[in-house]
Amino acid sequence: MKLYQLKYYLLLCLLVSVSCKKGTSSDLLTDDTKSYLKYSNIEDKVTALLNEMTLEEKIGQMNQYNGFWDFTGPSPADGESKKYDHLRKGYVGSMLNVRGVKDVRAVQKIAVEESRLGIPLIIGFDVIHGYKTISPIPLAESASWDLEAIKKSAQVAAEEASAAGINWTFAPMVDISRDARWGRVMEGAGEDTYLGSKIAVARVQGFQGDDLSKHYTIAACAKHFAGYGFAESGRDYNTVDVGTSTLNNIIFPPFKAATEAGVRTFMNSFNELNGVPATGNIYLQRDVLKDKWKFDGFVVSDWGSITEMIAHGHAKDGKHAAEIAVNAGSDMDMESYLYVEELAKLVKEGKVKESVIDDAVRRILRVKFELGLFDDPYKYCDEDREKETIGKQAIQDAVLDMAKKSIVLLKNDNSLLPLKKEGQKIAIIGALANDKTSPLGSWRIAADDSTAVSVLEGMQKYNGNKITYAKGADVTIGKTEFVSELKINTTDKSEFSEAITVAKNADVVIMVLGEHGLQSGEGRSRTELGLPGVQQELLEAVYNVNKNIVLVLNNGRPLTINWADKNIPAIVEAWHLGTQSGNAIAQILYGDYNPSGKLPMTFPRSVGQVPIYYNYKNTGRPVMPAPDIVFWSHYSDEDNSPLYPFGHGLSYTTFEYKNLSVTNVSKNKVKISVSVTNTGKLKGKEVIQLYLQDMYASVTRPVKELKGFELAEFNPNETKVFDFILTEKELGFYSNEGEFIVEPGEFKVFVGGSSKTVLEKEFELK
Ligand code: NOJ
Repeated sequence: MKLYQLKYYLLLCLLVSVSCKKGTSSDLLTDDTKSYLKYSNIEDKVTALLNEMTLEEKIGQMNQYNGFWDFTGPSPADGESKKYDHLRKGYVGSMLNVRGVKDVRAVQKIAVEESRLGIPLIIGFDVIHGYKTISPIPLAESASWDLEAIKKSAQVAAEEASAAGINWTFAPMVDISRDARWGRVMEGAGEDTYLGSKIAVARVQGFQGDDLSKHYTIAACAKHFAGYGFAESGRDYNTVDVGTSTLNNIIFPPFKAATEAGVRTFMNSFNELNGVPATGNIYLQRDVLKDKWKFDGFVVSDWGSITEMIAHGHAKDGKHAAEIAVNAGSDMDMESYLYVEELAKLVKEGKVKESVIDDAVRRILRVKFELGLFDDPYKYCDEDREKETIGKQAIQDAVLDMAKKSIVLLKNDNSLLPLKKEGQKIAIIGALANDKTSPLGSWRIAADDSTAVSVLEGMQKYNGNKITYAKGADVTIGKTEFVSELKINTTDKSEFSEAITVAKNADVVIMVLGEHGLQSGEGRSRTELGLPGVQQELLEAVYNVNKNIVLVLNNGRPLTINWADKNIPAIVEAWHLGTQSGNAIAQILYGDYNPSGKLPMTFPRSVGQVPIYYNYKNTGRPVMPAPDIVFWSHYSDEDNSPLYPFGHGLSYTTFEYKNLSVTNVSKNKVKISVSVTNTGKLKGKEVIQLYLQDMYASVTRPVKELKGFELAEFNPNETKVFDFILTEKELGFYSNEGEFIVEPGEFKVFVGGSSKTVLEKEFELK
């Protein structure tokens, strides 16, 4: 425990003991005086409780404070001392970053047993890809295209987090992004809105289950509403300016899907959208989310995003910011301290209607009742369950399964992979191969350092081969805790020679290179997308003495690896895979699991192509009119095409696509069939992908859009037929007025194992 943590911990202990001695004050409500207990229906309970509340107590429910140990944003200077006092007064509705049964119980006890109304806190935490047992980063999980596995991963994360006192996660992040420079692409489902929507639903269902009141389910949060993934030039928190078509067709659908799946909370975002900060955006939060989509949960601001409207140049001061935010539909204030300070004054001055406050509080209380917090505020505070659950074998198994499914085989010339289990001399090179912290990736606050299985450890479990290891070079210098230090990649090449010696004596060299786990994530934008530090030089130096290299990439975003693609025979995309990382990678390398992942984001050839995505628009000049003519939409120094397209991923077996047919075309329905055969020698999985192009429309449509996929397993020589029924939902799009329409005309359907599809056919919708 660090010194400042100790200080707050002692203060907490002191306050808990003092408060216990105080006993029950005369105006505390008891079970006899809690009028809401008379009702069985949640809405009636909420109404009864609202009627009991003073304005200040209502506003208190809209106030969320950070705990005392973990910080996931900059904290206001003098906030800490107020927090306990406010808890006791009932001026806090939620806390984030309080974790572990002991600490959650301590704060909950103050809220429940010392505040007048005894309303329990909702305890939020960033359970982004696991709590203490870490699953792959969300971008990696998305590469599995396996919705059941993704749901399961969220489910075990909820089980573990809820055992540690948490009942609300700030996940899933459903922001679509096309820009690999943005560090938070690691936290999302990638570039595609169709895949992203399916994954959003799987994650919401995984966290929330069928019944939110169970002690092992937690409330989910769709974030960041909206547009955060479209930050200009990939710089985090930057301005977003997008048109209605992109907003409606690309950005909104995963949020809408999460709403339809019953997500209980939303988080707004740091960015401004077309000139209005999302936190103060009436159109987003009131018109779209609450009115059009009928969302009846609550919206939490992002960390301090209400205050940040001053820096945005949208609010004059804190009071003005609070007024704008609450009127725009931000129901809960995360760490701006502004609702608790300013809202009562604003109501008294008539600038905020009390009905607006009531609506926000009703939403918050509704979710608390649904969680069952009023029935038992300590239902997530069971020490025995905490001990039994955290890190248990079934959770380890689930994250290992997810990790294997998340790996993408990018290249495998001459079937260098899988490795033989015996008789090969293997050299493993790279600091990341021997790192037990980096695989945990970004957003793993509760996980302890050094708890991941490293690649070296995973490989050593297969002891048929002789394995030697050399670091070659570090990735970064300094600690990895703070981004400012991560900016300094190492330049030290003094250990290259050892790596070269080790490589010379090996049959196959496994090079584990890429980004440290904390080089992607919030605030970690990059302008270069190559291998950080001297790793590219290390790769080339090793290549000069041994060309039999398997490059295992660790990274939180697409990288530009042109040289490697041209020269290295086998490339495995292994992301940041979490606690079981090394075991998953070893199983793939040795062929105990046949890779099945497909890229959820395009890999560019050059940063200059970014944003690059498969569902681009054609332009008026899409192709070269004649040899060497310059006047068409292209770069003079690089191809337009990506290095690896969206949906790409190989297997140790091969698949053949045949017999694409389009039948039953009616006004708004069409059936597409295709047969797929495993033509290789091994059992394997394939993601059959269906794309559609609406060839001309009142608002131009992309060259192709994913509209269906199936993940299926095949025995060698096995053929399966897949039928896809496309309905209005897949055939239509949002007009610039925000209306969903289906336009008659010609369509093209494409099917294959990536967005670079192999089969296509046209049809006409009359
Ligand atoms: C800021 C991040 O943008 C958000 O995603 C996260 O949930 C909050 N901090 C709380 O940690």
